[in-house]
Amino acid sequence: MRIILSLISFALFQCAFAQKFEGLAMTPPMGWNSWNTFATNINAKLVMEIADDMVKSGMKDAGYSYIVLDDGWMAKERDPKTGNLVPDPEKFPDGLEPVVEYVHSKGLKFGLYNCAGTKTCAGYPGTRGYEYQDARWYASMRIDYLKYDWCYTEGINAKEAYATMSNAIKVAGRPIIFSLCEWGSNDPWEWAAPVGHLWRVSGDIYNCFDCIKNWGSWNSWGVTHIIDLRKNIRQFAGPDHWNDFDMMEVGHGMSNNEDRAHFSMWCMLASPLIAGNDLREMKQETIDILTNKEAIAINQDKLGVQAYLYQQKDSIDTWVKPLANGELAICFMNRSKTEQPLNFDWKMSILSDTVSKTTYDFSKINYTIKNIWGNGTMTMAQKSKQRKLPDTSEPIRLNIPGHDVVLLRLKPVVQ
Ligand code: GLA
Repeated sequence: MRIILSLISFALFQCAFAQKFEGLAMTPPMGWNSWNTFATNINAKLVMEIADDMVKSGMKDAGYSYIVLDDGWMAKERDPKTGNLVPDPEKFPDGLEPVVEYVHSKGLKFGLYNCAGTKTCAGYPGTRGYEYQDARWYASMRIDYLKYDWCYTEGINAKEAYATMSNAIKVAGRPIIFSLCEWGSNDPWEWAAPVGHLWRVSGDIYNCFDCIKNWGSWNSWGVTHIIDLRKNIRQFAGPDHWNDFDMMEVGHGMSNNEDRAHFSMWCMLASPLIAGNDLREMKQETIDILTNKEAIAINQDKLGVQAYLYQQKDSIDTWVKPLANGELAICFMNRSKTEQPLNFDWKMSILSDTVSKTTYDFSKINYTIKNIWGNGTMTMAQKSKQRKLPDTSEPIRLNIPGHDVVLLRLKPVVQ
């Protein structure tokens, strides 16, 4: 009898805390978010154009599906009669429905932003005290993704606030991806897996490779700073619950090499791939980066293991991401502004990982190597060998351009 009662209470406990709609993000979500480029300058026409260009550019075919409107989509006040949120009538003269309908008609999904506090970060109505009402309203608008921020939350417990909203979404009944955005302030990786599908791990990204932008009372972070900040929480990420390294800055002011390094690292880190650039004005180089199917396959690998930092030597960081079927991805990131030589002797390197319980021993198994971007200059010594397929039987010698990566996919050679 006792055992049965304990089993029942365990099941009830699980129900009470397993709030989210499960299985919506078995691989990291891919999409676009308005904030990095447009801040609050958003409107219906922009959303429709972005949807068109997500399809035309090949991004939809490459796997991107969510179009998320960040802060600034609302009117300054709730509807005084119903208390419902109101889309800004100037930005969305016909309401949100036709916009959502348009996005859905393109085979894409639609997302919105709000905040756990009394106001959003840009001062629009927050959700505090309206959780169940707002969730019902989102379900009625047929949204598919909610980013939930953390401004104006003085005195609130993060775990409770996010659990409440997660539960409200569940009760409203429409499967919605729940994206926590409390900047890693309350260690969400330790408690948010049953509540949401992804959680931000840092303050806001800034469109530079390694700078810190000081805004007075807060900073935003260049790409390498976010990577460095959170290299020790990889054991908390996995299918349906991801560490979110923030919306990307690819195509938004960095050099092509830096964009490639940034994108490759977000793929390696199994971060959600949420573009933040203006899809209507993309250079071909930007499209080529954002739609590189082999880089994306590394991000979307079904094992869902976040890469680990194997070694930091001179200015080159070596990251390893175990993949399904005994394969792996390796990313050599050159932090220096100038080209640097890489000399990596596979046979001297045993790559062991306690999180994924994988070991790659190149002295025992030979792997073929695919250079995903085809970049990095091979040294003459290696060129002269003229082997058909590069493999791990001998060291790899490459020059990596400044602020760039060489991204490799390795596959075991079956004897
Ligand atoms: C916070 C978030 C950003 C963005 C803005 C909107 O800073 O971290 O990603 O949503 O709010 O105001």
